[in-house]
Amino acid sequence: MTDSQRMHLINHEDLKTFVASILIANGTAPADAAIVSNCLVSADLRGVDTHGSNRIPSYMARIRAGNLNPRATPILQSKTPVAAQIDGHNGFGFVAAHAGMAKAIEMAEIYGIGMVSVKHSNHFGMSAWVVQQALEKGMMSLVFTNSSPALPVWGGKEKLMGVSPIACGAPGGSRGRPFILDMAPSIAARGKIYKALRRGEKIPVEWALDRDGFRTDDPAKALEGVMLPMGGPKGSALAIMMDVFSGVFSGAAFAGQVVGPYDPSKPSDVGHFLVAIKPDLFMSMEEFRERMDYLYERVVESEKMEGVERIYFPGEIEIITEEKRRVEGIPFAEAEIASLNQEADLVGVEHLKM
Ligand SMILES: NC(=O)c1ccc[n+]([C@@H]2O[C@H](COP(=O)([O-])OP(=O)(O)OC[C@H]3O[C@@H](n4cnc5c(N)ncnc54)[C@H](O)[C@@H]3O)[C@@H](O)[C@H]2O)c1
Repeated sequence: MTDSQRMHLINHEDLKTFVASILIANGTAPADAAIVSNCLVSADLRGVDTHGSNRIPSYMARIRAGNLNPRATPILQSKTPVAAQIDGHNGFGFVAAHAGMAKAIEMAEIYGIGMVSVKHSNHFGMSAWVVQQALEKGMMSLVFTNSSPALPVWGGKEKLMGVSPIACGAPGGSRGRPFILDMAPSIAARGKIYKALRRGEKIPVEWALDRDGFRTDDPAKALEGVMLPMGGPKGSALAIMMDVFSGVFSGAAFAGQVVGPYDPSKPSDVGHFLVAIKPDLFMSMEEFRERMDYLYERVVESEKMEGVERIYFPGEIEIITEEKRRVEGIPFAEAEIASLNQEADLVGVEHLKM
């Protein structure tokens, strides 16, 4: 193992303070910096390392290039009692989506459902934090976003659709866990390839093709090529679905025109589609929770196939990881800490301690 691959455990509160300090020094309002750092550290805590604090250098590059406005305020317009639209004005996707889900929850508390469409936004990282925002208010949710081209449509070979995650959630009962699905329609999220590149690791050959259409275990070559959709035409259709609801419907970029978070040369114009639903619309909350507990138990206690030690509910692995990382700290490679500290040097804030 090289020095740059050596791992260090970082306390999540120290990390949050550090990330917020970089954001504020780059012009983000303290309240917005708190939202962004919470979302990024939430991904780190849940083990979604690909979409956590390591994204800071790429987001800051966008600010420096003038293609992400850290001071933008999302503007909200109500359309019907249950539908609203947000223009993110090219600010942080985290801030626009947070405002969107807050409004969706507010409408759902009164009318049972609330739906918010977001345009002119940016990458919002791990979708599960938006699902968690809804869960904290006891709400079910749908969280869709589109993203920059990375995936061919089924039968195609050019990058066209985004590896756009589909996420949704529902509160659990007293015995089980909440349901949190958050998945990219590719075999693996592209962030996992960036992570392997940062850490000097190889990737499984099933994940991507190089620029000549050959399978590769080299993350750099995979990034020049295309990600492979999960389940063939079905993964491709899910990516198109994210573009219909988040891109076409919202007024944001779509059909391959969203600019990626690692390309600071142009605004991204990402779109999101966020829905909050009251779980006790059709029965009491007590009955809903009891039914969720029953479902949870049926799933995790299901008879296991050979070689499987434990069956998990969607989102459960990440919840267990978070419980562990809150106590033990979040593992970061030395090279990742060095790259975050370079950002700190650029704006004169204190280093992240190893
Ligand atoms: N904002 C963007 O543009 C963007 C783009 C791509 C991905 N992402 C994010 O990347 C992250 C990673 O996506 P991914 O598709 O690689 O996720 P993943 O494959 O790690 O997990 C997908 C889902 O499967 C569940 N799961 C995984 N292993 C399981 C098991 N053994 N048993 C039961 N359930 C299991 C997880 O809980 C999760 O809900 C997500 O948070 C996603 O939002 C964001």
